Amino acid sequence: MNKPLVSLTGVNKWFGENHVLIDINAEILPGEVVVVIGPSGSGKSTFCRTINRLETIDSGEIRIDGELLPEEGADLARLRSEVGMVFQSFNLFSHKTVLENVVLAQIKVRKISREAATKRAMDLLKQVGVEAHAKKMPSQLSGGQQQRVAIARSLAMDPKLILLDEPTSALDPEMINEVLDVMVQLAKNGMTMVVVTHEMGFARRAADRIIFMADGAIVEESTPEEFFTNPKTDRAKQFLSKILTH
Ligand SMILES: Nc1ncnc2c1ncn2[C@@H]1O[C@H](COP(=O)(O)OP(=O)(O)O)[C@@H](O)[C@H]1O
Ligand SMILES: [Mg+2]
Repeated sequence: MNKPLVSLTGVNKWFGENHVLIDINAEILPGEVVVVIGPSGSGKSTFCRTINRLETIDSGEIRIDGELLPEEGADLARLRSEVGMVFQSFNLFSHKTVLENVVLAQIKVRKISREAATKRAMDLLKQVGVEAHAKKMPSQLSGGQQQRVAIARSLAMDPKLILLDEPTSALDPEMINEVLDVMVQLAKNGMTMVVVTHEMGFARRAADRIIFMADGAIVEESTPEEFFTNPKTDRAKQFLSKILTH
């Protein structure tokens, strides 16, 4: 059997009195695309953020490639570069050009020469279809273009996996597909991805597996086919009837 790239075992997380991750057990295999869906406040973002240790956990274990997440220092910095994260808001450095946004971490974190980093950055910008905008500032790009730059920046670290937390939910509708297309392509190229999204078309098209969360727990886990045509729990049925009628 394939060894999991990520494993969460008995993970619990509290924010004060609020039990936001309840006994989470999950595995993500290399090359797998897992879509996490569920109502707002169900813990989807926290789930993602614990995987690259933007949030600590109160009990349980999270392993990447069999190793416990490092707690601090250089090992934690390495983890952050191995686990890419793309957020709803694009988080580009606003005072740096698009190209520089993709070049910088390669030089700083990966210690790659500026020349090699620039070449790689241009390749990645091309891959996500924004190479023509390399010399512009992020504010001169549309939201969809900025989000594609954010994906390129994350790819520049050669991450083992990428976490995308509602990457299209801040975008105008006409820009959603250009970002989803890039994500589908990544999935096809074998990238391991955890994607929090309400884009059910993407989930059906690209997901190997759906994790449905509600109230801090994983309530259902199945293939997209199973989940959308034959959800097992009332909670999932309820959720689906709400989003699919919009
Ligand atoms: N930094 C934080 N401090 C306190 N509570 C938080 C924090 N982040 C999230 N929460 C709470 O944790 C729960 C899960 O939030 P979140 O993971 O953001 O859910 P989702 O992404 O599914 O909407 C919510 O009740 C939210 O209010
Ligand atoms: Mg969220």
